[in-house]
Amino acid sequence: MIMSKVLIVDDERSIRHTLRDILEFEKYEVDEAADGMECLVKVKQNAYDVIILDIKMPKMDGMDALDKIQELARETPVVMISGHASIDTAVEAVKKGAFDFISKPPDLNRLLITLRNAMDKSELISERKVLQGKVSNTRFQPIIGQSKCINQIMSTIELVAPTEARVLITGQNGTGKELVAHWIHQKSNRCDNPLIEVNCAAIPSELIESELFGHEKGAFTSAIKTRTGKFELANGGTIFLDEIGDMSLSAQAKVLRALQENKIVRVGGEKQIRVDVRVIAASNKDLRKLIDTGRFREDLYHRLAVIIIDVPPLKDRIDDIPQLIQHFCNEICKDYGIPEKSFDAKAVKKLQSLAWTGNIRELKNVVERLIILGGKSISAQDIDRFVLPTTSSILEMRDVLSKFSDLRELQKYIEQEFAHYQSSME
Ligand SMILES: Nc1ncnc2c1ncn2[C@@H]1O[C@H](COP(=O)(O)OP(=O)(O)OP(=O)(O)O)[C@@H](O)[C@H]1O
Ligand SMILES: [Mg+2]
Repeated sequence: MIMSKVLIVDDERSIRHTLRDILEFEKYEVDEAADGMECLVKVKQNAYDVIILDIKMPKMDGMDALDKIQELARETPVVMISGHASIDTAVEAVKKGAFDFISKPPDLNRLLITLRNAMDKSELISERKVLQGKVSNTRFQPIIGQSKCINQIMSTIELVAPTEARVLITGQNGTGKELVAHWIHQKSNRCDNPLIEVNCAAIPSELIESELFGHEKGAFTSAIKTRTGKFELANGGTIFLDEIGDMSLSAQAKVLRALQENKIVRVGGEKQIRVDVRVIAASNKDLRKLIDTGRFREDLYHRLAVIIIDVPPLKDRIDDIPQLIQHFCNEICKDYGIPEKSFDAKAVKKLQSLAWTGNIRELKNVVERLIILGGKSISAQDIDRFVLPTTSSILEMRDVLSKFSDLRELQKYIEQEFAHYQSSME
């Protein structure tokens, strides 16, 4: 089962914990934020089905956060929580587009019903989005960079997009594979039809076939109604099979058949359904190695890899870093509605010298962190304070870990260190 994801935003830890307990018991996946700013950071990085938002909070209150959420994730329903004193504000929030409000302390039944209704709204919207072929706004993000490899990728996209050729995009995590896939679709003749994404790594193997091909009612115990699969939803458009290296062998066999025959059969069904879908696949794993170890079908590989676009790691294009920083900086300041910040030359140089194992995604997160925590002009000192400690504490942690073979010993060590730290703070 794919769980619905709820973000709880409240400055009172006890309220967050009560809500978390209730919602986890009801099988929701729960995330928390302690104020409006933290909420926005999370909303930018994750897709939530519902956001529960307190009104009175430090740093950025619920009303301001609501405005920003409506810009960042316009279609995510927001349920406000209000104390007695803020009922009028809650009503105001609903007028501004919040889904509903509940009062503090939350009444269990009211809370669950409100959430269920909000989820229904959210599901309706996402179905409509799929039908309209609208997906995340990554598609409208430009591909930044002028290094030789980026120019080459851009010209391959221009050449390949208008054809029907299948494309396999390879590269490490966070290098921009999804962005490339979006642009191929965007520049293709199919751009008015849906681009449907399937993250093969995120879907349990027993569900992937039903996800891709749909199922008939009664095909298995939880199949209470007929479901249309992603291949059918992508009809006329493009399907993006992300992390294809994680797809089970049995699903691979079915995908191969769908590609050979341009037809699919729903799980538990018999009827062959004709589909006209272009396939773009991506993988951060070396599929050739998976073929050697019997975990990926060679025949499927050759069907998918008509054109291969390899997106290089950021360390191979550090000349693009200044432009990427500038781009993310402008974008993030605009998103937060704060005056433009800038990075001074030494800061940029320092960022160019870092390792970037998480590639562009990591760079983007670091730029965001520096904008939130740093001054108007971000300096090399800001990087020493806010970026490098993370790396050095990971290295320290690795050193500590290597000294223990027994988890209990490690736990004891951490408790002792913590007690020591606490007494030094008193
Ligand atoms: N050249 C680029 N210019 C601007 N933004 C980029 C570029 N490359 C990647 N990004 C941004 O970096 C983030 C990560 O990119 P993306 O999701 O496409 O990577 P990925 O290779 O699919 O990663 P993963 O393997 O982890 O799924 C996204 O926010 C994307 O918009
Ligand atoms: Mg990706």
